[in-house]
Amino acid sequence: MRLLLVGSGGREHALAWKIAGSPLCERLLVAPGNPGIAGLPKTTCIPIAAEAVAELVAIAVAEHVDLVVCGPESALAAGLGDAMRAAEVPFFGPSRAAAEIEGSKAFAKRLMRDAGVPTAAFGVFEELPAAEAFIDAQPGPVVVKADGLCAGKGVVVAATAAEAKAAARGMLSGRAFGAAGARIVIEERLSGREITMMALCDGTRLTPLPSSEDHKAVGDGDQGPNTGGMGTISPSPLVDEALTQRILETLFLPTVRALAEAGRPFQGLLYGGLMLTPDRGPMVIEWNCRFGDPETQSVLMRFDEDLVPWLAGVATGAMPPGKPRVRPGAAICVVLASAGYPAAPRLGDAITGLPAAADDLTVFHAGTRRDADGRLLTAGGRVLGVTASGADLDAARARAYGAIEKIHFDGMHFRRDIGLRGQRSS
Ligand code: AMP
Ligand code: GLY
Repeated sequence: MRLLLVGSGGREHALAWKIAGSPLCERLLVAPGNPGIAGLPKTTCIPIAAEAVAELVAIAVAEHVDLVVCGPESALAAGLGDAMRAAEVPFFGPSRAAAEIEGSKAFAKRLMRDAGVPTAAFGVFEELPAAEAFIDAQPGPVVVKADGLCAGKGVVVAATAAEAKAAARGMLSGRAFGAAGARIVIEERLSGREITMMALCDGTRLTPLPSSEDHKAVGDGDQGPNTGGMGTISPSPLVDEALTQRILETLFLPTVRALAEAGRPFQGLLYGGLMLTPDRGPMVIEWNCRFGDPETQSVLMRFDEDLVPWLAGVATGAMPPGKPRVRPGAAICVVLASAGYPAAPRLGDAITGLPAAADDLTVFHAGTRRDADGRLLTAGGRVLGVTASGADLDAARARAYGAIEKIHFDGMHFRRDIGLRGQRSS
């Protein structure tokens, strides 16, 4: 098979690593890719942006691509899936209409409410006075969210009503997030521990991938501003087989059914950002319509079989029967970030000391580039994802943090406590 993968981050490096390792893959094109992806066997990076829909369709047709796999939500929201399917190119990823489950928080919340999916109580607002009145009427703290895509930054977990109103004012005035904030969702603040569940969905059937946990705050002990994710572990120590089933039955299945009934069948990867609440069980914080980053890095380290038949099965509407094999033990991904991340990442620092890839250790590139002399430089906020597996989390941690000791770039920072939350539920 010839495959085209769209995207350029750590998530895409992990996907490309699995795809290029498949005996079914004859050739892998990646648009635009990154230096880590470019080093994989059978793989060629092509300089086309992930959102350049017409160019991507043209290359997929000209190169007789058998399957297109999409990483980022921006390309899905730009209609890449619709355009590929119109050109009869098999595509892994939802249509633009189904991708609204991530692209519009108001759409997602209403769909969940109507389908009886447990999620925080909420209101949707376009006018400030109504938003302020709603905030005043809430018995507890609230969370204010821009409706549209904001690259993970459109959420304010407010400590006070005054802070919530200031956030609502900033978003609705268009100052904070432009058009993405012209409509906002205000919701009840839930407490508990956050986990990630991702499932492959071929339109009707769901196959869960191993659970994981992200670490969103920039600093140890979950201190400091939120980022795109500073590290992940898989599995979450809190999620067993019974809880996985409960999550599938109460959260994923009714959501997928409601999407299908709304004429928006979901074919791709459905990502649940979930809260395990002590009193109300698992609840949905948010749905994403694509693989998580950096969850995918640790989850795919444990996906112990060929990923390509699963991706192709999702695209054609018929996933393989049964469950994919999962490597026992645990995996971890520790993100190495550049100076100034997340506020103002500095770019262009030279990277040295990358270890050779091994079966249980891979350094996925996220924000890197090569200069004219072939030197590897930082080119983004999240630079590398040092990903390791082991017989248990301690072994995986030791392997990842051991490798990090040898890696260097000026300003490099990372969390030292990925995977240390333990079994506590809050
Ligand atoms: P999101 O960008 O939707 O992933 O939200 C960012 C973070 O805000 C989440 O990971 C949660 O930690 C927090 N958050 C969002 N909604 C809620 C909520 N209803 N209650 C508590 N925390 C929330
Ligand atoms: N790691 C969070 C996300 O992919 O949205």
